[in-house]
Amino acid sequence: MLRFPPDFRFGVADADLQVVGEDDPRAEEDSLPTMWDAFARGRGLTPPGAGVGRYHRFADDIALMRSLGVTHYRTSVSMSRLLTASGDVNAKAVAWYRRYFGLLREGGVRVYATLYHWELPQFLAERGGWANRETVDWFVRHAGHAVRELGDLIDEYYLVNEPWCVTMLGHYRGLHAPGERDLRSALLAAHHVLLAVGLGLRAVHDIAPDAQVGTVFNAEAYTAASANPDDVRARDLADGHFNRWFMDPIYMGRYPDDMVEAYRDHLPNFRDDDLAAMRVGDRLHAFGLNYYSGVVVRHDPASPLGYATADPPGRLTNDLGWPVAVPPAYPDGLLDVLTQIWHSYRAHGLRRIDVTENGFAQAEPHDDARRIFYLREHLRQVHAAIRRGVPVAAYFAWTLLDNYEWQEGYRPEARFGLVHVDRATLARTPKASAAWFTQVVAARGLEAPPS
Ligand code: FCB
Repeated sequence: MLRFPPDFRFGVADADLQVVGEDDPRAEEDSLPTMWDAFARGRGLTPPGAGVGRYHRFADDIALMRSLGVTHYRTSVSMSRLLTASGDVNAKAVAWYRRYFGLLREGGVRVYATLYHWELPQFLAERGGWANRETVDWFVRHAGHAVRELGDLIDEYYLVNEPWCVTMLGHYRGLHAPGERDLRSALLAAHHVLLAVGLGLRAVHDIAPDAQVGTVFNAEAYTAASANPDDVRARDLADGHFNRWFMDPIYMGRYPDDMVEAYRDHLPNFRDDDLAAMRVGDRLHAFGLNYYSGVVVRHDPASPLGYATADPPGRLTNDLGWPVAVPPAYPDGLLDVLTQIWHSYRAHGLRRIDVTENGFAQAEPHDDARRIFYLREHLRQVHAAIRRGVPVAAYFAWTLLDNYEWQEGYRPEARFGLVHVDRATLARTPKASAAWFTQVVAARGLEAPPS
């Protein structure tokens, strides 16, 4: 049996727009339209709609969490709901979050609130979104509202979810809202998101000096396709593009030199003093890590970033095609990433790592054995990291319910839930993985790998 430390936190995570959607808050609270509705409609994709009905069903969902034994829950406070178009606070949204978070805490569930999980108001997207520096000010204002109005019901904060996705999927690859395709604009957006982390932390601490505040990055594990120096360099570029570009400024106050060189034709002019404002790693309580994939890369001079993925056919993937790095065929991706982050940033103030998301997309509605395999392998890697001295304090499974998976909509292949949601009736039915996770949480451990 692999036992986790007594204070290790097992939880589940979701995000406001993915479960609440936007129809209900717009009708009940007069909330602002998010950029996802316009983006999805413009591309012929599915908009968030009413999510999975969380707005009216939150009491049932809290009961469900409790039946799983979950006492730690990460979700987001939506910027499109808490802010009005004039920057004031939306009192109706405050009332809803107070009921919701109050009931969670009455039920013994601790609330971890992400202050930005991609719920940008459409009017800000129309002004350039995160590529416009003004968005930082709106985020800071939103953070202030959240702390003042809800802070007594929030146990810990995470500032921004996944800067890479916000900027590279939203402004370079065009796959996420607002759908731009321009590397220079994405690098500008990245700069502003990192600045929002720095200024957001100060805004929270100005109001609540003792608040526990972290932020969330997504990282992938990269392996070179061969020992050829070009492929090894490709691996470093992938790691720099995906991971280090976002983490180094927060912990070291600088962009990585090799990537500044790699991006030289696309770099905007940044204000120098911004880097000092971003460097808040030593004041962050936790580094939130969202981890899903491990990727094999090779040198590719034709690609704009100098590398391409080289995953061999037949490797294990989830039902969205995301490659999974688990032994014996591949290295322990999550263990590698945890170890790498710890050794890169411990000298720069990193104290604690929370795995804030980890999960598997699988179409089967009930008998989700592949998800159990995935979660088990990754929890074993978390356990191994702790044994090696990496201070991992939490593991949040993504996610409680099948929900809105961004550009994938609600299609069956994009189901990440431990609990199935029937799209017609919104009935919730726990899957096999929910029973398995419940046992792990109750035992505070899981079976060791065969030796
Ligand atoms: C992450 C997002 C989360 C969810 C999972 C599957 O990138 O943070 O909202 O969509 O992927």
